[in-house]
Amino acid sequence: MNAEAGRRLDVEHTHTETELFHRTWYPVALADTVASNGVVGANFSNGRVVVWRKENGEISVFSAYCRHMGADLSLAEPMDGKLRCLFHHWSYDESGQCADIPCANSVPGSANLFQYPAEEKHGLIWVFNGESPEFPVAELADEADTEVISEARYMGHIKCPAWVLKLNTLDVQHTRALHNQDIVEYPNISLNDNGVMDFDYVVRDKKIGLFSVTGHYFGPNCIALAGTMESGALNYVVSAGTPVPQGGHDLFVSLGIPLTCNGVSMSREEGEEHLANLWTLYLRLFDEDLEIINSMRFRFDHLIGEDKYMKRVADYAKAFPIGNPGSAFIS
Ligand code: FES
Ligand SMILES: [Fe+2]
Repeated sequence: MNAEAGRRLDVEHTHTETELFHRTWYPVALADTVASNGVVGANFSNGRVVVWRKENGEISVFSAYCRHMGADLSLAEPMDGKLRCLFHHWSYDESGQCADIPCANSVPGSANLFQYPAEEKHGLIWVFNGESPEFPVAELADEADTEVISEARYMGHIKCPAWVLKLNTLDVQHTRALHNQDIVEYPNISLNDNGVMDFDYVVRDKKIGLFSVTGHYFGPNCIALAGTMESGALNYVVSAGTPVPQGGHDLFVSLGIPLTCNGVSMSREEGEEHLANLWTLYLRLFDEDLEIINSMRFRFDHLIGEDKYMKRVADYAKAFPIGNPGSAFIS
C-alpha cells in the first residue's frame, strides 16, 4: 500500500479530522484547577484556549494567543479585572476585547480574542465549539431538585476518538463478553429535535444486581447516565472527551450521587459512601475496557447487524454538525 492510501485509511478509521470540529460541548479542565483570579491553558479543537476565572468566580474562555505577537495567554496575569499579557502588557477585558496598550494612544478594533460559550458544571469547565450553544451541557434527571455529591476526574489521554469510546455504552455484546453483565432489556434509542440522543436499557451485574439506565448523548463526545439500582438509589455518570489534534482525546469523568431520589433521602456521609462505591464499579469497568480501547483500530464497515445500537451512535457521530468559528484565533 502506498503512503497516500495509508493516510486516507487512517483518517477513515480515526475520524479525527471531523471529531475536532463537532459543534458540541467539550470539557477542557477540572473546575478546581482554575483558581479564583487564575488562568489555565487547554487543548481545544485544532488549537488552544485559556480559561480565566475572575474574582467573582465566573469563568470566561478565550482563544489562547495574544493578538499582538501571539504570546500564550495561559502565562498572562489577571489584573484589575483584565487579563494582562506578560510580554508587552496588552490587557483584555471580560469580553476578550483589548482595552489597553500601554505604549499606544489607541487600540485597534481587531485586537480582540475569540470568546467561546463556557459553563462550569459537574466539576468541569465546558466550552462550546460555536458562537452560541445549540444544546445544554449534560443534564440529568432530577438534578435540579436535590443536592448532588459529585467528584470529577481527568482520566488521561485515550488513544481512540472520543465518539468511538462513547460507542462502548451501547456495545451490548461487550457488556456480556467482557464485563460479564447480562442485558435484561435492550436499548430504546431516540433522537431529540435539539440534537441530543436519548436511550434506556436494563442490565444485571453479578455483583451489584439489577440496574436500569436512562442515558443521553449530548453530542458524540459526551454521555450522561442516570442509573437506578434495585434499592431505588440513583447515581449519575457524565463522561466526556476532548479530542487533540495529534489523535485520540482527553477524557474527563464526573460521578455523582443525588442525596434525595424517589422520595428517599440520605445523609452526606451515606452519599460519600455511595460515591466511593460508584467509583469502584466505574473503575472496574473502565479498567476492563482500557487496554483494548487503547489498542484497537475501529472500522465502521466491520460492524454487523447485532451491533445495531452502536451503529446508531456511529451514524449520529458521522452526521453531527461541525464548525470552527475560532479558527483564525486558536492555532
Ligand atoms: S505578545 Fe502580548 S502584548 Fe505583545
Ligand atoms: Fe465497557
